[in-house]
Amino acid sequence: MNRITRQQPQTSRTVDEITGGRRLRRMRKAGWSRRLVQENHLRVEDLIWPIFLIEGENRQEGVAAMPGVSRYSVDLAVKQAERAARLGIPAIATFPNIPLSRRDARGSAILDADNLINRASRAIKEAVPDLGIITDGALDPFTSHGHDGILKDGIVVNDETVEQIAQAAVLQAAAGADIIAPSDMMDGRIGAIRDALDAAGFQDVAIMSYATKFASAFYGPYREAIGTDGLLKGDKKTYYIDPANSDEALREAEQDLAEGADMLMVKPGLPYLDIVYRIKEAFGVPTYAYQVSGEYAMIKAAAANGWIDGELAMMESLLAFKRAGCDGILTYFAPEVAQRLHGSRT
Ligand code: PBG
Repeated sequence: MNRITRQQPQTSRTVDEITGGRRLRRMRKAGWSRRLVQENHLRVEDLIWPIFLIEGENRQEGVAAMPGVSRYSVDLAVKQAERAARLGIPAIATFPNIPLSRRDARGSAILDADNLINRASRAIKEAVPDLGIITDGALDPFTSHGHDGILKDGIVVNDETVEQIAQAAVLQAAAGADIIAPSDMMDGRIGAIRDALDAAGFQDVAIMSYATKFASAFYGPYREAIGTDGLLKGDKKTYYIDPANSDEALREAEQDLAEGADMLMVKPGLPYLDIVYRIKEAFGVPTYAYQVSGEYAMIKAAAANGWIDGELAMMESLLAFKRAGCDGILTYFAPEVAQRLHGSRT
């Protein structure tokens, strides 16, 4: 019988010869040693919780595409804000679902000092003064076409929109917002908001710039949450950044800092960690990411199907933001994560 004979290599090195005795698995061998060498940590202090508002009283409505997320009337939003404070979450970001009858082509209701955003800020500030409130100056919840600015002859006009956003920011600050976070990507908005806030005596109100907001497919569930999904005609490519670009994102960030932004944000989050990393490296300023609705929905949907462990995926995705250089993360998971972090503290 013929045998196939394999030729043995002349010399075969041991693993220690190959690695020079360096074995990276050594510190991974046990929970305690992994904890000792853990480089990044997710803390409750890293969390900013975006919450949705609706008109009415004692109303809570689920958002179908975001399991576990609801819209709250102002009285219930106050309860949620109290919950956030109890959990140690430093700040919330509010987004309103405005009744269709109050939306128009110019988004004029953003200039109503008593609109849903401002009423919520007042109520929350009064009940939970130590919780940070972040409000958005973009017009999309208020426009009949779902764009972030004033639409004229099919064009989202920049300068007129900026003027309106700056006025809205002052009203939001007067209602109790601590940070204005304009998500519209109009040119010059940061400087205009800074000027308007300062002129009105709100020197202490900060600006978190959505400096690098990309024209992304991951915003879908949010548009359902604030009711712009059926309204938006076309896309937002003439003002949001092309997902293909990162040098341009850095220019946006640099520009917003020069205009007076106190904090920078990258949005969406996980698909854009390279942008977070570059921004943090380049400027070393407080840097945040927004884990947007589509990112949340993907994790929840896969978990609901039993395809991934939702809790582990949630924690891993948030830790990834820290590793990339984020000082904090806007995430719909915030209360769930905070609860989990407290649980593991014992
Ligand atoms: C628009 C705005 C968007 C989000 C917040 N404000 C994007 C959009 O609708 O185009 C997205 C938030 C999310 O997806 O969680 N100014």
